[in-house]
Amino acid sequence: MKPVTLATLRQMKPAGEKIACLTAYDYSFASLLDRSGVDLIMVGDSLGMVIQGHDTTLPVTLADMIYHSRCVARGVARALIVVDMPFMSYQVSPVQAFENAGRLLQEGGAQVVKLEGGAPMVETVRFLTERGVPVCAHLGLTPQSVHQLGGYRAQGRDAASAGRIRQDALALQDAGAGLVVLEAVPATLAATITAELDIPTIGIGSGPECDGQVLVLHDMLGVYPRPSPKFSKNFLAGQAGVEDAVKAYVAAVKHGRFPGAEHCLA
Ligand code: KIV
Repeated sequence: MKPVTLATLRQMKPAGEKIACLTAYDYSFASLLDRSGVDLIMVGDSLGMVIQGHDTTLPVTLADMIYHSRCVARGVARALIVVDMPFMSYQVSPVQAFENAGRLLQEGGAQVVKLEGGAPMVETVRFLTERGVPVCAHLGLTPQSVHQLGGYRAQGRDAASAGRIRQDALALQDAGAGLVVLEAVPATLAATITAELDIPTIGIGSGPECDGQVLVLHDMLGVYPRPSPKFSKNFLAGQAGVEDAVKAYVAAVKHGRFPGAEHCLA
């Protein structure tokens, strides 16, 4: 089977073919996701919470991300591997971001790096993409800014912040981003941004109109011991095993059955 690239995902958008994406942090789960039809595997810094047991993603280090990314890369033959740049590994300067993104690609086997933030990240995204580092942007609820946001809250609910997220998405695309994650924004805003952009949007808690969907693996398997976000769904419930749960998720995303209205923010 041909490996998924950014170009593959970009062709899926106008074809209306939904992109199924999940997080993974190790070899065995990455291999299971890959053979179950997941198009894009994110090595998210959510590992700080679901693997390491922290309250936030802030303690995650570049070394942690390289380690987990390398484990995932060994298990993947088809899916595109997108790896989070952790807090403090890219915000200082575009040069700092380039050096650390380079390590994720060289040592971690990342194919795309993901970083959080809007306008302040545009210069960095341009710097990386002009130097051959593919970038996935992340807008809306950006967990690395949890303390500034005052908690894990939906974003883009008023006209001013919705307008800002829309402008940021366009500016990041213009700077060379190949994908954008929209986390916890209203479905109507995500639909508008998805229609305006040429690059695919990957939604999490942002409604069914995004070009693709992502969930944190431990949430969709119902194994995270703390409360999962309302927009998530336990796909293991009623299934014979983990592989069936992942296949059910992929089918639900591909056929537009997930997310349902109950998984969208008002
Ligand atoms: O850290 C993460 O896992 C993520 C995705 C869920 C979007 O950022």
